[in-house]
Amino acid sequence: MRRLLPIAKSHKKSLYIGLLTGVIALVLNVAVPAMARNAIDAALEADREALTTWAIILISIGVGRFVFGALYRYSLFQLAWGVETDLRTLLYSHLTKLSFSYFDRTQSGEVISRANSDIRSIQVLLAFGPLIGMTIISFILAFGYMMTLHVPLTLVSLITLPGVYFFGQKLRRVVFPLTWVSQARLAELATIVDENVNGIRVVKSFAAEKQQVGLLQRAAEHIKWVNVEAIRARAKYNPIIESLPRVGMALVLLYGGHLAIEGTVSIGTLFAFNAYVIMLQAPFRMFGFLLLQTQRASASAQRIFEVIDEEPAIVDSENATHLLDVEGSIVFENVHFTYPSKREESDPEASSPIDEVLSGFNLTIRPGETVAIVGRTGSGKSTIGRLLNRFYDPTSGKILVDGNDIRDVTLDSLRHQIGIVFDEPFLFSSSVAENIAYSNPNASLEEIASAAKAAEASGFIQELSEGYETVVGERGYTLSGGQRQRIALARTLLEKTPILVLDDATSAIDVEIEAKIHDALAKHLSGRTTVLIAQRVSTISLADRVVLIENGVVVADGTHSELMANDQSYVSILAEAEKKDQQDLGGKND
Ligand SMILES: Nc1ncnc2c1ncn2[C@@H]1O[C@H](COP(=O)(O)OP(=O)(O)OP(=O)(O)O)[C@@H](O)[C@H]1O
Ligand SMILES: [Mg+2]
Repeated sequence: MRRLLPIAKSHKKSLYIGLLTGVIALVLNVAVPAMARNAIDAALEADREALTTWAIILISIGVGRFVFGALYRYSLFQLAWGVETDLRTLLYSHLTKLSFSYFDRTQSGEVISRANSDIRSIQVLLAFGPLIGMTIISFILAFGYMMTLHVPLTLVSLITLPGVYFFGQKLRRVVFPLTWVSQARLAELATIVDENVNGIRVVKSFAAEKQQVGLLQRAAEHIKWVNVEAIRARAKYNPIIESLPRVGMALVLLYGGHLAIEGTVSIGTLFAFNAYVIMLQAPFRMFGFLLLQTQRASASAQRIFEVIDEEPAIVDSENATHLLDVEGSIVFENVHFTYPSKREESDPEASSPIDEVLSGFNLTIRPGETVAIVGRTGSGKSTIGRLLNRFYDPTSGKILVDGNDIRDVTLDSLRHQIGIVFDEPFLFSSSVAENIAYSNPNASLEEIASAAKAAEASGFIQELSEGYETVVGERGYTLSGGQRQRIALARTLLEKTPILVLDDATSAIDVEIEAKIHDALAKHLSGRTTVLIAQRVSTISLADRVVLIENGVVVADGTHSELMANDQSYVSILAEAEKKDQQDLGGKND
């Protein structure tokens, strides 16, 4: 919570105005029964002049209360929402800095819940906390004023307060843990809904709707149970808590009424006490809430700062330089790599030989060369692209671009020099043009169209209902797999990076179109260093050189025809891939 202070302080003006106007509004609130008392007593004494004066004062207090009440609400809520916005931005900007190793082990539902309910619980505390804290002031003021009027009557009017606090605490002790559980359950439910919606194609294809609905129903039942339990406790204790002030009122009327008959207190005083009995309950009812909300918000703050304190694993080194004007030589020097999630907890460097993806990987690619990487599925081909882009750092060994260790250059500059097309293209739910121009939102329409042309995408884009302005739906699901791949390819080509990594980037595109893409690429690729990860002979034939990886090392290196002639495992891998490809494309009508 202490760490929230600097954020709250950046909204100083709202905070101070809120506190100041809040105090004034509360003082005015306490003054109302006192002024009413004077007015009533003036009326009973038939003092018309005094009555008018007190009534006018009452009206002015009412107006003042309205003005200051509006001001403090506005300011405190402005503060609360301001802090919420800041926290959101802080959390999100930190999330974007975190490395892939973090996202490998974190569920998106968890992050979303932190970004939503945890930030909300802090916001609630900030909006209501200061106000509730200040009701203590109104309690002290009212109490002091009552004591000056009549001490025993003051004590009688306080009699029910411990009861209010006691039952309030009892209620919260039941409800508070339940709200925690309810929040966790809601996150669970959100994950189920999220997976159902995102995975709807899989769900339906397995006709597994019933099973999914059952899963959802169970989660929903849990939430119902939690909330019904909470309501049961509320139904039990709230009526007691609400009746206690009425009992207090009756006691004040009984005792105070006798005092009034005896003439010890005035009717106005009796009236004022009656009003204060109700007013005094508020701090007692809300103080417990404040304590609990504080606990809750501090737990939330802890969880938010847990994310913010998570150090990104991959950062710029201290004297990182910018990697500029790259010629495009790439060297992998004795690279060993195990995914962080599979390293031993105690010793992050240690790894079992089974989990090691690269074990002494060596590869030198000359500027402008096109190298195809071939290997069985799971052999670590995509991993090579990820390491080159520094999504992860090797466990040992070095990767050099133009002779620079990629750990010594800034991440931004490195990634601007390397364009990568993944095998599973992710499109944003915006227009085709915006998707292609993702790397450069200022790209002209001609540039976008020429990138699309090179990716052999312009034909089908023009046939879309609104051409380049067609919105592609979430993740681009309104397009076919091959169309998505071509847009993803165009997006990377637009960036015109000196190094290009195509990770199975044309796997969903049929051979004829692929051949056309290759013609266009050959023009595009000349002068660029290209790493082609592929299975198809047609793709591989585009490369100057082929390397075969097996068990984390390069086992063969040469031209396609050399390897075909000399390397038996190369021949069999390609044959397997060919067979699989035929099956895959058999079902596609791209
Ligand atoms: N994020 C990850 N965390 C942990 N292990 C991973 C991760 N990504 C891949 N792996 C593992 O690393 C190994 C190499 O994966 P990689 O994706 O590089 O294979 P690939 O050669 O590209 O396979 P494919 O041809 O099927 O695309 C696999 O055994 C895989 O299970
Ligand atoms: Mg792969």
